[in-house]
Amino acid sequence: MKIVGGSASLNLAQNLARVMGVDYVSVQHEKHPGGFPDGEQYVRLQASVAGEDVVLVQTTHPDPKIVELLLLEDAVREADAKSLTLVIPYFGYGRQDKRFEEGEGISARALAKHVQAKADKVLVMGLHNPSVLMYFDVPAKEVDGMPAIARYLRGRGIDLVLSPDKGAVRHAKEVSEAIGASWDYLEKERIDSFTVRMSLKNLKVSGKKVAIVDDLISTGRTIVSAANAVKQQGATGVMAACLHGLFTSDALAQLKVCDDVVSTDTVPSPVSKITVAEEFAEALKTEF
Ligand code: R5P
Repeated sequence: MKIVGGSASLNLAQNLARVMGVDYVSVQHEKHPGGFPDGEQYVRLQASVAGEDVVLVQTTHPDPKIVELLLLEDAVREADAKSLTLVIPYFGYGRQDKRFEEGEGISARALAKHVQAKADKVLVMGLHNPSVLMYFDVPAKEVDGMPAIARYLRGRGIDLVLSPDKGAVRHAKEVSEAIGASWDYLEKERIDSFTVRMSLKNLKVSGKKVAIVDDLISTGRTIVSAANAVKQQGATGVMAACLHGLFTSDALAQLKVCDDVVSTDTVPSPVSKITVAEEFAEALKTEF
């Protein structure tokens, strides 16, 4: 087996190779210093993958990383790999998983159909809706990243794990069981991409240390609203942990309302303090 890392997932790919004890193949990204004048991309594998089971790791966010993924798949196949497994740590475009209004494209399906084209199997993590897996025609599996978040939270004195909305309840439950804390959830109403409203709810957080857990942080508005609710009700500490930290515009500044903010390395960010390499390594060892 050999592991190839796209530029959206370099650290995770290298960690994965280390955890699995296999060779990591680096990629050249410029044919000439400075790259192509028109901004088009270039990839060249720096070692042979002929006859190998290749694992290609690349998050599909932001958009140029999708093109890079397609080029890398082509390079791996062109180099006569025996098989190609895609690891997509964060499946960008996964949130539009169905047609909500007439005339819309189903982004998750469009992406799935294209990125799988040269792959034998696909692993993804923390899908917004696991039903997105049905859009892949090759075997596809969702890897659970919450054990990695639990590893980080364990031993930090967390009394309660809070889901900021009903959608992340499954994550809060799982993490709370893993670290021996209780759990609860808030109800969120999304007004638009930048505005959320939390329902008033009495939480048993007075004098407690709370960890808010979500699959994804984008603008940070969801977590900020939840953290404010928790603080107003007397929590002594509040931290936020997510799988995919997109942290758009001033999200990290807004999130200073929390005592600590962490994400995994599915999307590189200044607070990607948790690696999910172990979770992907385990999944790769299991037949699917
Ligand atoms: C939504 O259902 C997700 O689980 C996240 O809560 C949401 O995408 C976070 O977005 P933002 O950080 O922009 O509030």
